Amino acid sequence: MTSEKLSRRQFLRGLIDVVGVAAAADMGLFAWSSPMGDEHAMNRMVMPQLASPKVPLVNPVTLARFVDPLPLPPLAQPTGTRAHPAYPGRELPYYRMEMRAFSAPLHRDLPPTPQWGYGGRSPGPTVQAMRGEPLLIEWVNALPTQHFLPIDYNIHGAERSKPQVRTVAHVHGARVPAACDGYPEEWFEPGHSALYHYPNGQDAATLWYHDHAMGITRLNMYAGLFGAYLIRDAHEQSLGLPGGDCDLPLILCDRLIGKDGQLYYPVSDDPDAPWVSECDGNAILCNGKLYPFLEVEPRRYRLRLVNVANSRFYNLSLSNGRPLVQVASDQGLLAAPVPRQHVALYPAERADVVVDFSGLDGKQVQLRQQSEAIMEFRVRDRGRHDEGALPTTLSTIERIAPAGAVRDRVLTLGEQDDAGGNPMMMLLGGKHWSAPITENPRQNSVETWSLVNLTGDVHPVHLHLVRFQVVERCPFDLFAWNASKTLKFTGAALPPEPHEMGWKDTVRADPGMVTRIIMRFEGEPGRYVWHCHLLEHEDNEMMRPYQLLPA
Ligand code: C2O
Ligand code: CU
Ligand code: CU
Repeated sequence: MTSEKLSRRQFLRGLIDVVGVAAAADMGLFAWSSPMGDEHAMNRMVMPQLASPKVPLVNPVTLARFVDPLPLPPLAQPTGTRAHPAYPGRELPYYRMEMRAFSAPLHRDLPPTPQWGYGGRSPGPTVQAMRGEPLLIEWVNALPTQHFLPIDYNIHGAERSKPQVRTVAHVHGARVPAACDGYPEEWFEPGHSALYHYPNGQDAATLWYHDHAMGITRLNMYAGLFGAYLIRDAHEQSLGLPGGDCDLPLILCDRLIGKDGQLYYPVSDDPDAPWVSECDGNAILCNGKLYPFLEVEPRRYRLRLVNVANSRFYNLSLSNGRPLVQVASDQGLLAAPVPRQHVALYPAERADVVVDFSGLDGKQVQLRQQSEAIMEFRVRDRGRHDEGALPTTLSTIERIAPAGAVRDRVLTLGEQDDAGGNPMMMLLGGKHWSAPITENPRQNSVETWSLVNLTGDVHPVHLHLVRFQVVERCPFDLFAWNASKTLKFTGAALPPEPHEMGWKDTVRADPGMVTRIIMRFEGEPGRYVWHCHLLEHEDNEMMRPYQLLPA
């Protein structure tokens, strides 16, 4: 093999391999040269020559399993009430969410890990709201002025002229006016804050909040800036789903951790351009802990699974073969429960699942990511039981008819490579973030968007403000597209899977497919964004503004 320089793409292959070669990392090598037991090794074209991280990485498989209790983020508490011009004559609950640096061990046997979190913890406190009851949140940046993760100053919006530490909070899945949506360029520095109001005028759903600052979202979220935001409503509460302490968020992400406890964020071999196009860790955190356990009663639980990872997707199952019964997706209840042996979750997707521990008194059940047990449920002996069954109908979901759409926008998901064929940035509709607005739907109109994936990867695509339905996925001829920009379908359209028949805000756009979604643009006119939720892509041009025009 020639002494070619390691390309970004090859680096990535290596990065994906890390998960499989954790043993090598444990030897302090962070070595790409030990393909033993590495299922991806066959795909590797060259042995990447990567500078090792300064500190060797923790190999999670060497850690004791299930020795830390699963942390349950506290409920956010309002500190008082306030008036707001958007709600004349009313006093609204006022929350203050301070972003702070803190340290906490990710596992009993690891040194404390410096992180950033809302309320000085990660995940941050859970915000809980009743439908139709608005609230105010003041997002306060009380972080240090220096970032501790590798900024790439070549990325649009992250130039050296900008302050290193910038934040802006977004509630993912919330229908809020543009001024409170957390537009990526409306970031603020340490010592500053933004007061946002949230109408909560939407169906019960598991939403989540996270940072959205231009060009460094991937770093701010890797640092720990996220939390759950639950909307409840009377309809959902009438269904008798598991509630109280049997209803909990399970927020999943993965990290690379140095033996000194520091978070390690991977960098390319080019010190002036450290951006990497994906970031997968080998340590999977459940509510901020590695391999935690939870004591449960022998009854049903509702777990609100949220994937807050930078780029990894999860494929979750239970060790005892019982199904995860999905009752809700991103934007709330499904029409009926869907029992699933495996739940695949792409970044930013949510699945509320009901898990039944009845009859398992005194036993253990593990939650698995692929074949690896990542957390343990310990069922109490002689605990509380519950009677009754899940309702067979959960909600009515009216399908939006594609015939009623005023237009179909054909939008590509593409990759811009350098001369050597290495990804340099990712583009939506072939356009950069700063190109003039091209998507300008009218308020309350129905549109379909056809997401044409020209790359070899899945991209989880997210629209702010609106909820949508998945219409279909249809294979297309990439050569025909490249030759003449015409869509030539090469096979039958695949209908959405049963768990994708509810309301969504993030959709898996598969390679080789046109993924078509449909939505009614309800909400206040203004400027919002849509983007790929792989954070490395989102930060590097795979995000576009869109303008909602008045009806
Ligand atoms: Cu999870 Cu633009 O958001
Ligand atoms: Cu969002
Ligand atoms: Cu992407």
